[in-house]
Amino acid sequence: MNPTIDLLKSHRSIRKFTDRQVDDPTLTSIIAAAQCAATSHFVQAYTVIRVRDPEKREAIAQLAGPQVWVARAPVFLVFCADLNRLETVCRLHDTVMEKGWAEQFVTATVDVALLAQNVLIAAESLGMGGVYIGGIRNDPQTVCDLLQIPDQAYPVFGMCLGWPAQDPPPKPRLPVEAVLFTDRYPQQQETDMLAAYDRTTNHYYLNRNSNLKDETWSRQMADLMGRVIRPHMKIFLERKGFFLK
Ligand SMILES: Cc1cc2nc3c(=O)[nH]c(=O)nc-3n(C[C@H](O)[C@H](O)[C@H](O)COP(=O)(O)O)c2cc1C
Repeated sequence: MNPTIDLLKSHRSIRKFTDRQVDDPTLTSIIAAAQCAATSHFVQAYTVIRVRDPEKREAIAQLAGPQVWVARAPVFLVFCADLNRLETVCRLHDTVMEKGWAEQFVTATVDVALLAQNVLIAAESLGMGGVYIGGIRNDPQTVCDLLQIPDQAYPVFGMCLGWPAQDPPPKPRLPVEAVLFTDRYPQQQETDMLAAYDRTTNHYYLNRNSNLKDETWSRQMADLMGRVIRPHMKIFLERKGFFLK
């Protein structure tokens, strides 16, 4: 359709990287482009930490799974939702910042997600690849301790970046008709459409170029949604000063 849409449609997570390093100017220009994402009320409520120290990397790789690509990727970034800069500017203007509101939590979390997605797209536009690492939330307090992340900030996810050493096919997404509606929410869930999507995903899993498996999307999701995942998050976020009221 156009090069940007073609790029978006060619996305696939990359978990194996060549030894080629990502130089500082390249990473800086990726982050600068990513910062142009829209940001709620212009708050820019995020901080990104590049983890270079091999011991910290290894510790995060272990607690995230283990996930070896976290230790091996040329670049590993931790994306924090962060209200501290905003508290600083409040102090500069003799304003006492309101704290602990759910709305602030949503604002900062959305802001950092928009930034991160722009990072991935910018990197992909340069021929690089990457993968988000939600696994850091297995033990977010240890990530905070390792990276000295203070209260009013929390690590939302990590991201590996580098030059791809694998070429997986894109994963098929739900059909647009399953997610886009006009004027009202769908009155019933389209199970026929989900069955068709299961056939599509099953074909993908049986034919991709590695890690073949006889799997479907709905089976995967039923397994996922039938489990309690990271039950510590509520207490962790409250301790960090988020999501209290
Ligand atoms: C917030 C978030 C967290 C993720 N966490 C992980 C992770 O910890 N490890 C991993 O290998 N992939 C992770 N992924 C990648 C997803 O598994 C992947 O995007 C999804 O399966 C779709 O595949 P694709 O990106 O190749 O299209 C994460 C993705 C997102 C958006």
